[in-house]
Amino acid sequence: MLGVIGGSGLSGLANLEGVRREIVRTPYGEPSCALTFGTIRGREVVFLARHGYGHTIPPHQVNYRANLWALRSQQVNDVVAIASVGAIRDDLMPGALVVPHQILDYTHGRESTFATGADRGVLHIDFTDPYCQKLRRRILEAAAEAGHHAADGATYAATQGPRLETAAEIDRLERDGADVVGMTGMPEAALARELELCYAALAVVVNAAAGRGASTGGIRMEEINAISKLAMAYVRSILERLVEIDGD
Ligand code: HPA
Repeated sequence: MLGVIGGSGLSGLANLEGVRREIVRTPYGEPSCALTFGTIRGREVVFLARHGYGHTIPPHQVNYRANLWALRSQQVNDVVAIASVGAIRDDLMPGALVVPHQILDYTHGRESTFATGADRGVLHIDFTDPYCQKLRRRILEAAAEAGHHAADGATYAATQGPRLETAAEIDRLERDGADVVGMTGMPEAALARELELCYAALAVVVNAAAGRGASTGGIRMEEINAISKLAMAYVRSILERLVEIDGD
């Protein structure tokens, strides 16, 4: 079954039918919210709002382990993570869609493994390619079929947040090779790999990163919210097509 983790701007799927909500408990505590089960064109989908339905959980306080464990426990094997990002690369304009292929992790102090020693042993997952290639391809195909261009490949920098970056931090991320920046991509992707889930992200550019382009004089949340509202409509139609492709 397909699981969708919705980020800022996507706290539900309007096109879900026969909706039922279920609170799932895990050995790692509570997920961000109850899971929402429903169907899109007859295919079952599970939705989870990463920041809670009321958008109350900041990126550094999301229980990523509980979220992924909960999805896995419901027979989810593919997870599409929706992520809002700032663009570092100057050809990515607000509203652009990106399917990243690499990650740089600048987060700290987050529970980032299920293998916490002792009884669970030590786990060194292969993370050379952090995203599931098959699912990346399906997302790109779904985007094309839904009539939306999504850029194939980008290096996603995961920052700690909740504050946005300084202009100098963005310069450093660029020197490191980052194309886009967000706050939730890690440890989510690594935890998904530990659980052997096929995980990929569909990122939505909602602003130019700090000090870049239209953000030279600062980043305004009202603009982010406006772009986000617009772009999430594209995301919904892509997800709809993705579910159809999965069923074909
Ligand atoms: N930085 C970090 N996270 C983000 C941004 C940003 O500019 N935009 C959306 N999420």
